[in-house]
Amino acid sequence: MSADEQRPLRVVVVGSGPAGFYAAGALLGGEVPAEVDMIERLPTPWGLVRLGVAPDHPKLKSVSRAYERIAERPGFRFLGNVEVGRDLHHSDLCRLYDAVIYAVGAQSDKRLGIPGEDLPGSWAATEFVAWYNGHPDFQELEFDLDVERAVVIGNGNVAVDVARMLALTPEELAPTDATDKAIAAIGSSKLKEIVMLGRRGPAQASFTTPELQELGELAGADVLVDPAELDLDEISEAGLAGDTNARRNLEVLREFAGRAPTGKPLKLSLRFLVSPVAIVGDERVEAIEVEGNRLVPDGRGSMRAEPTGERETIPTGLVFRSVGYRGVALPEVPFEEGRGTIRNEGGRVVDEHGEVVPGVYAAGWIKRGPTGVIGTNKKDASETVELLLEDERAGRLERRTDATADAVDTLLAERGAQPVLYEGWSSIDQVERTAGEPHGRPRAKLVTWEELLEAAESERVPTS
Ligand SMILES: Cc1cc2nc3c(=O)[nH]c(=O)nc-3n(C[C@H](O)[C@H](O)[C@H](O)COP(=O)(O)OP(=O)(O)OC[C@H]3O[C@@H](n4cnc5c(N)ncnc54)[C@H](O)[C@@H]3O)c2cc1C
Ligand SMILES: NC(=O)c1ccc[n+]([C@@H]2O[C@H](COP(=O)([O-])OP(=O)(O)OC[C@H]3O[C@@H](n4cnc5c(N)ncnc54)[C@H](OP(=O)(O)O)[C@@H]3O)[C@@H](O)[C@H]2O)c1
Repeated sequence: MSADEQRPLRVVVVGSGPAGFYAAGALLGGEVPAEVDMIERLPTPWGLVRLGVAPDHPKLKSVSRAYERIAERPGFRFLGNVEVGRDLHHSDLCRLYDAVIYAVGAQSDKRLGIPGEDLPGSWAATEFVAWYNGHPDFQELEFDLDVERAVVIGNGNVAVDVARMLALTPEELAPTDATDKAIAAIGSSKLKEIVMLGRRGPAQASFTTPELQELGELAGADVLVDPAELDLDEISEAGLAGDTNARRNLEVLREFAGRAPTGKPLKLSLRFLVSPVAIVGDERVEAIEVEGNRLVPDGRGSMRAEPTGERETIPTGLVFRSVGYRGVALPEVPFEEGRGTIRNEGGRVVDEHGEVVPGVYAAGWIKRGPTGVIGTNKKDASETVELLLEDERAGRLERRTDATADAVDTLLAERGAQPVLYEGWSSIDQVERTAGEPHGRPRAKLVTWEELLEAAESERVPTS
């Protein structure tokens, strides 16, 4: 065995969300000695655990403790503030590491493709979520919450998050790590009604029962459901037997439908079987036009929405399109446009002819599409790492002569990049926690690039 073969396998994981950390954890705990550089475009790790999970769900964010433990393992390096596609390219990574794992998540949103989608006042949920969670690229956005009705399109957990966040009272917002600006804007909004629209029926909604249930426990909002919209067609009714989530959702929705409004300042209306067909307004959003749907079998064991032709106009000044996230292609990396994912088989990246691209892998949302909870990414990333280790055992991973930490640092310095190491992030973390503590908040987030980089400054790698 040559000296080169004896050195640890050097792997780069691009992206520091759940998939990236679970991949790093599987590698650093595996039978093959490995070193992992985790490259992240932001100065902060954890992906959507920091910048997606709702601020009023602090327990879910505590999964980051497991990531902190992974970051402490020997052989792990965090290189924040380094973007692949800007500071480093795919070809650089293939030269500087023995293997590359892309875990970059889904950085954009799925479009509705209807007129008026881009009118001022029509927002992607991705934008609102990133704004209230303090993503530094989204802090310039101005959400005009000085309207009476907001419409949230979609029936997934993100739509539920958006509707719930809009409905929180100042008291509910105060102990969260939402940004100060978001707490002030949401807390003083003039909203009287939030309408959530599902294009299919209540039995097909993809939100989960605990999240739905929370909508009925809000201090400032009465939840409203029309019992007539809960009448199921025969196929949907029969489907409930094998779908625990749908069955429990129906139980909760029926309980909501039986409630009388208690006079809370806000109404949260859940509507089903309606699709948006146009967002209308001269200068900005004034209304949304929707069309009724009926359900028909889709031939794949599920039901699809078919328009009835019945239209309705709902006046609103604010629309949030929450119909799914979407992966973005990275230069030089094979991409499947239709699915918005890196082209791969079980995590091994393949080219357009289905040929394996040696040493290149994908994990998480960019591998399988934007669905699944945090834990789903653990199994997903482990599957990818198993394939990587299988390739290593079979001698399919070429040991690169340039695969050293020094070579990476030298190239970053040449490119003028200013990496934030894990110590830099720890310093940001400390500043945020210290600022939050007197107010009973888990943290008060730093939200601009300048603030974040300044807090990390003392720990930044010298690059001269
Ligand atoms: C609004 C929202 C709320 C959610 N709430 C919950 C919840 O409460 N509970 C739950 O279990 N699940 C929740 N989820 C799902 C969960 O967040 C995802 O399953 C998970 O985050 C996906 O992990 P990932 O690592 O694939 O992607 P991400 O978490 O998105 O991480 C990707 C990382 O890659 C980085 N990156 C992207 N491009 C580059 C590049 N070119 N160079 C370097 N770095 C790059 C990004 O900055 C990011 O940090 C939520 C999702 C959303 C959208
Ligand atoms: N608390 C939590 O655990 C939590 C919180 C947030 C997110 N997450 C997870 O993160 C993942 C992403 O969530 P998500 O809500 O973005 O995705 P999702 O669950 O896939 O929901 C997307 C919703 O958009 C609807 N939709 C899609 N295209 C549409 C169109 N053209 N017109 C109208 N409606 C349309 C879908 O309806 P159809 O079903 O008809 O396609 C569906 O209701 C999910 O797995 C979710 O569970 C979890």
